Amino acid sequence: MEKLLIEGGRPLSGTVEVSGSKNAALPILAAAVLAGKGKCVLRNVPLLKDVDTMGQILRDLGVSCERRADGAIETEVADESKSIARYELVSTMRASFCVLGPLLAKRGYAKVSLPGGCVFGLRPVDLHVKGLKALGAEIELEHGYVVARAPKGRLHGGRVYLGGPFGSSVTGTANVMMAAVLAEGKTIIEGAACEPEIEDLAAFLNHMGATITGIGTPRLVVTGVPELRGTSYNVISDRIEAGTFALAGAITGGTVRLRGAALDHLSAVNDRLEEVGVHVEGDGDDLVVSPNGSAGGRFKAVDVTTLPYPGFPTDLQAQLMAVLAIADGISVITEKIYPDRFMHLAELNRMGANIRKEGPTAIITGVPHLTGADVMASDLRASAALVLAGLIARGQTEIHRVYHIDRGYERIEEKLQKLGAAIRRVKD
Ligand code: EPU
Repeated sequence: MEKLLIEGGRPLSGTVEVSGSKNAALPILAAAVLAGKGKCVLRNVPLLKDVDTMGQILRDLGVSCERRADGAIETEVADESKSIARYELVSTMRASFCVLGPLLAKRGYAKVSLPGGCVFGLRPVDLHVKGLKALGAEIELEHGYVVARAPKGRLHGGRVYLGGPFGSSVTGTANVMMAAVLAEGKTIIEGAACEPEIEDLAAFLNHMGATITGIGTPRLVVTGVPELRGTSYNVISDRIEAGTFALAGAITGGTVRLRGAALDHLSAVNDRLEEVGVHVEGDGDDLVVSPNGSAGGRFKAVDVTTLPYPGFPTDLQAQLMAVLAIADGISVITEKIYPDRFMHLAELNRMGANIRKEGPTAIITGVPHLTGADVMASDLRASAALVLAGLIARGQTEIHRVYHIDRGYERIEEKLQKLGAAIRRVKD
């Protein structure tokens, strides 16, 4: 195992390239199962552990998946006789459940392990199942697997509402949309997720020959086509990575240019940054984050509620909490997507923060400074929050179990080193 060592107190400065979006790339890779003739060539797919896992799942399913010398990922369907996604792989990454819709649509049968819960909650898949049933799928749960069949080998169009108690489901929308593209007739998905990653998947499917309208709205209309073809596609940039680096620049009081940040996808994040007293400015495709001279002194405490897009993303809640931990006053963060996603709270408190949880709400009483400590990464975004806290803490922070961070951040310590951070990875 490895750990990250961070010496806090250096303002970040310089330019960082934003990588391709993990949460767009993963369902797009799953969609490669849908291709009839031809290869898919996917550019701007980040170099991440989760992408490697999806590649392994695709190869298990008879789809070749290799990264070329120029960095693009090339996939090609070679053998359609395999339709089982194993527990060993699906249990390590929930996004792999996204192969269910494509397998069912293209091969008429799928057996995909239930992903199970995760450290921040139950994370059910009932909305995925409801959507696929609306397209005629017959679905059973057998020995921890979802076993799905399309009667007579092909799904039919249907109408489904995908809103749940915590809003729509991002990967649920992905699964149902990918199943609908090859179904016979028209599918209407109401209450669809509007996240940019879903827009990107829909745009990719249309490049393959699908007919999806209403992209980016909660009402998607999919007119089924008999087949799709391989295509070339550029994945969007990662708004969560961009937001994490924006918050990293902010917490250190530095000036950071995020090259290729999708500004349109970051409105809620920029709004909160400005509110805490950070200057954010778009410059072409770049976002520049710098201290707000007139704000003076400490960050302002703010209240934040995580919401489906375009609201403030749950995937940046932990990182924002690190910033608010040193704000002047009391901030309140309410989690409306994952009420238990607060694993980072106790670790931030180990570093001197004063945060308590009441139900789905964290109450953060800002302290003047954090101190370096040994802390444990519990999940991907919690790890990022600890890195941010480490960058500003007095003394050294050691973040253990850092493998979580490699699931979603490409070379994070290298990118931070380039910005002047004293961070290194060592064996634990
Ligand atoms: N939910 C249900 N029923 C379902 C599915 C979801 O009740 O069938 C609930 C969930 O429990 C949660 C809410 O609906 O309370 C939203 O979950 P959603 O299904 O949208 O999450 P997801 O698709 O599993 C994706 C991202 C997550 C991100 C969430 C929310 C990918 C691969 N994952 O997960 O990303 O937090 O949307 O935006 O796209 C991350 O990157 O660190 C990460 C966890």
